Parts: sequence; structure tokens; C-alpha cells
Amino acid sequence: MNQTHLDFLGSPEWGEMLKADVLPWIEAASDLGDDVLEVGPGPGLTTDLLRGRVQKVTAVELDPDLATALAERLAGTNVEVIHGDASDTGLASDRFSAVTCFSMLHHIPEPETQDRLFAEMCRVLRSGGTFLGIDSRDNDMIREFHVDDVFTPVDPATLPARLESAGFGDVTIEPDVSGFQIRFRATKP
Ligand SMILES: C[S@@+](CC[C@H](N)C(=O)[O-])C[C@H]1O[C@@H](n2cnc3c(N)ncnc32)[C@H](O)[C@@H]1O
Repeated sequence: MNQTHLDFLGSPEWGEMLKADVLPWIEAASDLGDDVLEVGPGPGLTTDLLRGRVQKVTAVELDPDLATALAERLAGTNVEVIHGDASDTGLASDRFSAVTCFSMLHHIPEPETQDRLFAEMCRVLRSGGTFLGIDSRDNDMIREFHVDDVFTPVDPATLPARLESAGFGDVTIEPDVSGFQIRFRATKP
């Protein structure tokens, strides 16, 4: 991530926006259950939303420095931070009650790797478990925010078929939340 982006994702403003805007949606969308996987936690303000609400959170972060910083900050809590790739976690199949993915898909350079991530999330979920995600829409303002950074937005028109190809059912998409976000929910049959 570029430094402006990283600073924003660790800021009190982002924390407040998550609490005001994203948390009510998470709470309405699904009972997350007892054992939640979060992929792409970054500085971990999304992890903070989850960890007070569920018994255990496992957070998989690709960036080694961010993974180390988050592991240090949340040492001794109900969060286990793993430095790894969410498209190939090595975690047990059929384990998690829910998987969450907030603003990270567009940081994966190739759509094929995003598809591998969807299949991996389906593999590690329990039957009946929920995959819950938010990602950025493709617009000029968001592109500017990602200058010198990876930006591979997902197309909300093709996302349902991609999630179904990965094994999910019961897919619900909100394709345009305030012009900035796509939100989705899917279930492992
Ligand atoms: C924009 S940040 C989102 C942080 C946080 N979820 C939030 O919404 O505040 C995206 C994060 O996803 C991580 N990431 C990108 N590709 C990943 C992958 N394949 N596996 C795990 N994490 C990944 C990046 O390193 C970055 O920390």
C-alpha cells in the first residue's frame, strides 16, 4: 500500500467510519459464529471490530511488517495473526464459522488469484458458514487513492458468478453503496 493509504487505514477517522457504517451492516448481515477468519487485516482496525464480538479471530496478512505489527499489538487477545497468503492459507478445511474480507480484494494483482482466494475461503468455511466482504468500486477518486499501488477492482456484475464458481451459494450483492463500495455475502452450502 502507498503511505497515504496505509496512514488512513490506521487512523481514528477510519475507525469511526468502520464503527458507524460497516459494523451495523456486519451485525445485520450474519451471525459470525465462534471462529472467524479475517483476510487482509492491514493495520487491524477491522480486526478490532470483530474481536470484541466473537470468541476467536484468525487474521491472515500478506505483508510481513503489517502482520508483525498486528501480532504485537494484539498479543494476548483472542486474535491469532498469521503472516500468509489468503489465496493459499494452509489452514484446515471446514473449520471457520465465518470468513471476512474488507477492502482487500482490489489489492490482489490478478483476477485469477482473487478467484483462488474465493475457492480457498469456501474450503476453510464450515458448511453453512458465511463469507462476508466489502470492496471498492472502480471510480476516479478511488483510483487516485491507489496511485503507485495495486488496484484490481472486482466487477460487481460478474462477482456472483465468480463466487458460485468457487463453490458458494445464496450470494447477495450490494453493487453500489454510496458510490464507493460493493458489499457481498455468500454461504457455503
Ligand atoms: C486496504 S488493506 C485493508 C485493511 C483492512 N481490512 C481495513 O479495511 O482497514 C488490504 C490488506 O490486504 C492485504 N493483502 C493483500 N493481498 C493479500 C493476500 N493475498 N493475503 C492476505 N492479505 C493480503 C494487504 O497487505 C493489506 O494489508
